[in-house]
Amino acid sequence: MPTLIDFINRPVVPQPWSEGDNIPWNEPGFSERMLREHLTQDHDAASRRTAKIELHVAWIHGAVLAGQPTRILDLGCGPGLYTSRLARLGHVCAGIDFSPASIGYAVAQAARDGLPCVYVCDDIRAAVFGSGYGLVMFIYGEFNVFKPADARAILIRAAEALAPGGVLLLETSIFDGVRAIGKAGTLWYTSLVGLFSPEPHVTFSESFWDEATSTATTRHFVIDGVTAEVTRYAATYQAYSNDALAGLLRGCGFDQVHFYPSLHGAPDASQPDFMAITAHKAGGRPATVTVM
Ligand SMILES: C[S@@+](CC[C@H](N)C(=O)[O-])C[C@H]1O[C@@H](n2cnc3c(N)ncnc32)[C@H](O)[C@@H]1O
Repeated sequence: MPTLIDFINRPVVPQPWSEGDNIPWNEPGFSERMLREHLTQDHDAASRRTAKIELHVAWIHGAVLAGQPTRILDLGCGPGLYTSRLARLGHVCAGIDFSPASIGYAVAQAARDGLPCVYVCDDIRAAVFGSGYGLVMFIYGEFNVFKPADARAILIRAAEALAPGGVLLLETSIFDGVRAIGKAGTLWYTSLVGLFSPEPHVTFSESFWDEATSTATTRHFVIDGVTAEVTRYAATYQAYSNDALAGLLRGCGFDQVHFYPSLHGAPDASQPDFMAITAHKAGGRPATVTVM
């Protein structure tokens, strides 16, 4: 187990993705603590608050899907805050996420409310997506966390999972938003109980921007208050220009790429660092997806 001396001797600047893939969304204890952050109405850090989600869902249903019921796949669906609402509007939904607590919450809600939603706890880099969807959505900037090769593979499999004429809805961080993550500097705080640990601990977080690769890396050292053991988590975010994203989508089996300033179609001054993109499965006829 790493100790304080390993922390002190850490590489001054981390190489992108070399110190970890992501924060530990899939660890059971972390995922339980994170579920509370998804559901809180105090902030928008893990999922947006209800009013914003309802604005997004109205735009997805009305503008992206023209009010036509279809089959929807939500990649990184979290606790199903979008799929449950889309199901109430007549869509049949599937969600994949590797957070056990989030998937447990989504499954229980669907069962309790009789919603046509199925959820799978799996890593979207490996999970089976299924096929015949009218919409595949992948939102809240999580796309940027994946290594470019993984991001590309996910997009190719999303295109394959769509029915002819089906649409991808991708919400990414804008280029300058990723740069801002990398320029966030250093932060430390002490907690008796926190997201990274249920025990007293110190969290030391630092961020880096790498101009050569257009990546931001954040790493967190969590120091146990009793044992002084150190746990490291790290995530790297790839920044993309709009041209790079459009080219990537075309190369992954999409056309008709459209950019929007937010997930409700209009500028969102409270979260200007995200944008939404729609892209159609290339070569498709108009989507006629049967909802069963
Ligand atoms: C910022 S949260 C957004 C959740 C949800 N889309 C929302 O907006 O409410 C990102 C989600 O992506 C999931 N995630 C991250 N990497 C993943 C992976 N490799 N496979 C499956 N899920 C992943 C996390 O568990 C988390 O639920």
